Amino acid sequence: MPNVVAILNPKGGCGKTTLAAHLARALHLKGQTVLLADADAQGSARDWHTAGDGKAGFPVIGLDRPTLDRDLISLGAPYQWVFIDGAAKLEKMSAAAVKAADLVLIPIQPSPLDIWACDPLVEMIQARQKVTDGTPAAAFVITRSKKGTLLAREVADAIKIYGFPILQGAIYDRTIFARSMADGSTAMDDEPAGPAAWEIHHLLKQIQEAFDV
Ligand SMILES: Nc1ncnc2c1ncn2[C@@H]1O[C@H](COP(=O)(O)OP(=O)(O)OP(=O)(O)O)[C@@H](O)[C@H]1O
Ligand SMILES: [Mg+2]
Repeated sequence: MPNVVAILNPKGGCGKTTLAAHLARALHLKGQTVLLADADAQGSARDWHTAGDGKAGFPVIGLDRPTLDRDLISLGAPYQWVFIDGAAKLEKMSAAAVKAADLVLIPIQPSPLDIWACDPLVEMIQARQKVTDGTPAAAFVITRSKKGTLLAREVADAIKIYGFPILQGAIYDRTIFARSMADGSTAMDDEPAGPAAWEIHHLLKQIQEAFDV
């Protein structure tokens, strides 16, 4: 059975695809088997994979349909990890992704508007947790953090109402994330010793710990 991580937030452009591709690639570089399921009809994860001509080294499949939780039971079975890159807007696909997931990561930019925008997603996850005895687990990841946005402590305070933890560290707004994605690569490939790669590894360590692997 794979560890299934869904990256969801109805807020467009908060960094879901960037985070999904980077975490999946980081696990692949560690020798783990990974499937990235693109649940967004925009197909950004698939575009990224195509731009790199498959050099990511793991498959990216389009699964932008509300049956994705059932489809992933067989499609995901051969892999150690399955990542689901969610769509902007809370669609039926999001509910299916919440059902399929062991862990939902919610990338969130440190601004009040973005924090409020996750309300419906949080409600959807909590409703699911009630009928499944707490599955999926959920955690926030601060993304695209930059000078002039809220401080980590202010964000933590604002998010506290939702009752989900925030992973330690943040993804900063760095050109390397966007630049590397443009040619189907990642920050770990293009600047393996840089701060962006470090941020991904720091988050990944916590995700692996959450799965006890
Ligand atoms: N940490 C980052 N630093 C700099 N640029 C970033 C970062 N994360 C994402 N971006 C850029 O922001 C834009 C949106 O990112 P991305 O596509 O990952 O977000 P998304 O949440 O998947 O968007 P959508 O909701 O449209 O699917 C892209 O141009 C991407 O290159
Ligand atoms: Mg996306």
